[in-house]
Amino acid sequence: MANSKYEYVKSFEEEDEVMLPNLIVVRIEGRDFRRFSDDHKFERPNDEKALDLMNSCAAAVLEEYPDIVFSYGFMDEYSFVLKKKSKFYKRRASKILSVVVSLFTSVYVTKWKDYFPQMELTLAPSFQSRIITCASMEVVQAYLVWRQNNCHVQNQYNTCLWMLIKSGKNEREAEEVLKGTGKQEKNELLFKQFGINYKKLPPMFRQGSCVLRRVKRLKTEVEYIVVHSGNIASRSFWSGHSFLMKELGGFEEDINKVKPEYLKSFVFERKLMPSTWIVVRIDGRHFHGFSEVHEFEKPNDEQALNLMNSCAVAVIEEFEDVVFSYGVSDEFSFVLKKDSQFHERHASGIVSVIVSFFSSKYVMNWKDFFPQKELKKPPSFDGRAVCYPSTEILRDYLAWRQVDCHINNQYNTCFWMLVKSGKSKSEAQDYLKGTRAQEKNELLAQQFGIDYQTLPVMFRQGSSVFWDKEDPTERYSDERDGKCRKKVVVEHCNIIEQSFWKAHPSILDEKH
Ligand code: GTP
Ligand code: MG
Repeated sequence: MANSKYEYVKSFEEEDEVMLPNLIVVRIEGRDFRRFSDDHKFERPNDEKALDLMNSCAAAVLEEYPDIVFSYGFMDEYSFVLKKKSKFYKRRASKILSVVVSLFTSVYVTKWKDYFPQMELTLAPSFQSRIITCASMEVVQAYLVWRQNNCHVQNQYNTCLWMLIKSGKNEREAEEVLKGTGKQEKNELLFKQFGINYKKLPPMFRQGSCVLRRVKRLKTEVEYIVVHSGNIASRSFWSGHSFLMKELGGFEEDINKVKPEYLKSFVFERKLMPSTWIVVRIDGRHFHGFSEVHEFEKPNDEQALNLMNSCAVAVIEEFEDVVFSYGVSDEFSFVLKKDSQFHERHASGIVSVIVSFFSSKYVMNWKDFFPQKELKKPPSFDGRAVCYPSTEILRDYLAWRQVDCHINNQYNTCFWMLVKSGKSKSEAQDYLKGTRAQEKNELLAQQFGIDYQTLPVMFRQGSSVFWDKEDPTERYSDERDGKCRKKVVVEHCNIIEQSFWKAHPSILDEKH
């Protein structure tokens, strides 16, 4: 397809391939899950149903992405280990961490009612994710030891804390009692004060859960099993699962201490360049198939686009640093203000929470836009973050996306009109090969009596989502503090030309 003069903006995208022989681990963890679990009345310190839901999401992730061969989780976190020489998404860190967290989240929302039939989902759950690069299996082993140890420490602490709270202390007092206590003391406190033998508590709470893929006896089907093992990083556990040995290899010796320099690498995160506009672009994964399964209208399904827009509105309302967004087809770009300190500018944090929250909303809002259609499979989105150093380049980026919208929409409109008029898909493709914009418009006008310019503006120009301009005549005041409130609007307008930005100077105002 034709190149536009804006294509140069692609050169700002950074390479983030995890090189071989490194192994790739993805960890996801709940965002603001304390609030989420409070609002949904999760049992303390462990809610078995919530943990079962997490495990079933992990199983769905393993099922969808065969490159993931092992997973381990507890509380609101889950780690996924990819097979040794995986070529998943060309080993691009951002794509991998985003599609994993996106699918996990949309399955979480989809399956919610199976685990909590009486409890309506009132907040959109979201997770953040990151990649942990492991230079060898020894490092993967250390990582797993670290996570399982964390499960143990946190669970023991939380069990004590909630027993103290249930016995009448407030949270602060309970924290005070536990300050500086060791493992042994906590076990004694549980036993003496509450008659609880910590070791007899359910293994899922104390040891966490592994979801594993297992080939059934007939070897034609696979199944996903949940196991709770005392030491997931031991040689004996590993060698008991031949496929783990095959895909990842074994451990040389058992370890129980993690080297501090390894810990440092587990928590390391790349920061985006300061004082630059950050754009997070998300894109539906395999939406070609997704739109077929859900019988979206071709080439544009108005409701599907409105659903995407509703999720973008939710993102702008949720994340105050997002100042503008532009969407077309199955993609959306979110612009974060230049001096944003969101997630300390960690690329993985920023990308993952936006993609996860968007996915969550997509599933939650589905019924509002498709009341007659069932959501047949959970959607997922990939994401990336790119920095643009000046407002001019940022605007060229947005222009690039809008030109792309125009080119694709014009092509797709012609293509589907030709197909609907009886041509096969390959005939339609050949027919359009090498045609220019003008010729396509003529084709539409002459053969189908369509004036391209009269097609719905959302199809031709995409959707821009932003806080409305502070026009005093449109303001309405907030009764509580007398301040002006703004609202998020969805408009379909030309964002390539100056006029839009002149009419909305506050959007890209750097002094914001
Ligand atoms: P990846 O993004 O690489 O995972 O593949 P993809 O299948 O999502 O393709 P891509 O993102 O390049 O293109 C988006 C695809 O989504 C289009 O080719 C369409 O098939 C589909 N799609 C998006 N919006 C609509 C719509 O409104 N109606 C219909 N029928 N299809 C749509
Ligand atoms: Mg896509």
